[in-house]
Amino acid sequence: MAEYAIEMLNITKRFPGIIANDNITLQLKKGEIHALLGENGAGKSTLMSVLFGLYQPEEGEIHKDGKKVTINNPNDANDLGIGMVHQHFKLVECFSVLDNIILGVETTKGGFLQKDEARKKVVALSEKYGLAVDPDALIEDITVGMQQRTEILKMLYRDNEILIFDEPTAVLTPQEIQELLTIMKNLAAEGKSILFITHKLAEIMQAADTCSVIRKGKYVGTVSVKDSTPEKLSAMMVGRDVNFVVEKQPAQPKEVVLDIQGMTVASKHHKNNAVNQVSLQVRRGEIVCIAGIDGNGQTEFVYGLTGLEPLQSGTIKMNGKDITNMPIRERLTSGMSHIPEDRHKHGMVLDYTLEDNIVLQRYFEPQFTSKFGFLKRREIREYANRLIEQYDVRSGQGPVTKARAMSGGNQQKAIIAREIDKNPELLVAVQPTRGLDVGAIEYIHKQLVAQRDAGKGVLLVSLELDEVMNVSDRILVMYEGEIVGEFDPKNVTVEELGLYMAGSKRKGAGR
Ligand SMILES: Nc1ncnc2c1ncn2[C@@H]1O[C@H](COP(=O)(O)OP(=O)(O)O)[C@@H](O)[C@H]1O
Ligand SMILES: [Mg+2]
Repeated sequence: MAEYAIEMLNITKRFPGIIANDNITLQLKKGEIHALLGENGAGKSTLMSVLFGLYQPEEGEIHKDGKKVTINNPNDANDLGIGMVHQHFKLVECFSVLDNIILGVETTKGGFLQKDEARKKVVALSEKYGLAVDPDALIEDITVGMQQRTEILKMLYRDNEILIFDEPTAVLTPQEIQELLTIMKNLAAEGKSILFITHKLAEIMQAADTCSVIRKGKYVGTVSVKDSTPEKLSAMMVGRDVNFVVEKQPAQPKEVVLDIQGMTVASKHHKNNAVNQVSLQVRRGEIVCIAGIDGNGQTEFVYGLTGLEPLQSGTIKMNGKDITNMPIRERLTSGMSHIPEDRHKHGMVLDYTLEDNIVLQRYFEPQFTSKFGFLKRREIREYANRLIEQYDVRSGQGPVTKARAMSGGNQQKAIIAREIDKNPELLVAVQPTRGLDVGAIEYIHKQLVAQRDAGKGVLLVSLELDEVMNVSDRILVMYEGEIVGEFDPKNVTVEELGLYMAGSKRKGAGR
């Protein structure tokens, strides 16, 4: 019997201006969890899309059980037992969980859909693997975690033996991540072979047997996880040592730049307000972090602050000036920069080029628009090129690349470049490192500290406790829309913070 379930041999896949996969070889053993590690834009999703039949490589071969196979489309992949959970789910929103699972492989008898049998099989699979779903719920009504379980059931329903998970944990809560890792281990123990993409080295250490690393489209190497360390893996990935500890001097807070009093924002989903009577201040020269578990009002708080949602009550002052009712564009030109949580919804226009996204909120400034109202394309190009260079934003065609064709991490870097280069007085950064590789995270943390040291106020909203502890000068914990504790990161432990984040402790706080 062949040792490998799947071998991708010398795969090359090009896109305009870039070789996304440059002669990559990846061999997946039967029954193993094989992590694929690489910086944002390294070519991981492209390689997996080749395996799943979404892209045709220019060169290379795929072997299954030692024999050459051709995979022209996802149906071919499915026939070979290959399934994939995509980075961005591919479910039909207005269909039920069950209908999504059986879509395309419906069994019929005498022209009638055999839905009862399908349902039995789905329920049995979901019980066997601990994949809790409600078969009759509509996709649009269920959590991201349940949508992902639906995708996994879809693979199992088709009896797939080779399972590709493209950054499955990026969208999950810590508890859901643990559940998923357990499920993956159970599947591997049963003999299924798993390809697992993640940026979280701890997840690789915990769940994977083997790890292959690619860098800028090229194969770097494959190691056994138990013989490796997070430091070694990240050095292989980035090509240099990565510093996991943020280096910074103690903060020297100066005048108040942001002053929020009694902010209350209504909830779209509940009777209770999403944000309730929040008061806080951010000074120049400090990084204030709002920590908390996802869904405790952080999103609505940022919407209120940046003008995406109106306040029910309360005031917001920037440099002493009341901006509570100021329109969004004016806020952004009055010294507030915003790195948004949802980069597709509020960060970039995906069908615009990179350069147009870079001047998205500034094209009307005299440096980019002539006094007759014409865009100065040459100046815009030069400006974009400078930012691309300085912030190391990688893409196939530089300033004219469509944002849609960039990897998520490089989209994020472009937004950060744009927001920081505006030279704001207050930088509001919401989960700025979500989904990024460790090298990019290190870079962004340095940028936040540099902004602080340049005398800007930085308000960081983060769900990552490591980031909270590492980067901030002051921590405010948000729980159910209220600030329930204020801490100096030097005097608090992760465990203590956790108690406040879970709502089991609170103390007076605010400024
Ligand atoms: N459909 C596409 N068209 C053009 N370029 C693409 C396309 N998909 C990916 N790329 C480019 O190929 C490179 C690798 O992307 P990707 O495989 O998504 O990286 P990763 O998953 O490792 O973050 C990136 O530079 C990206 O911009
Ligand atoms: Mg990817």
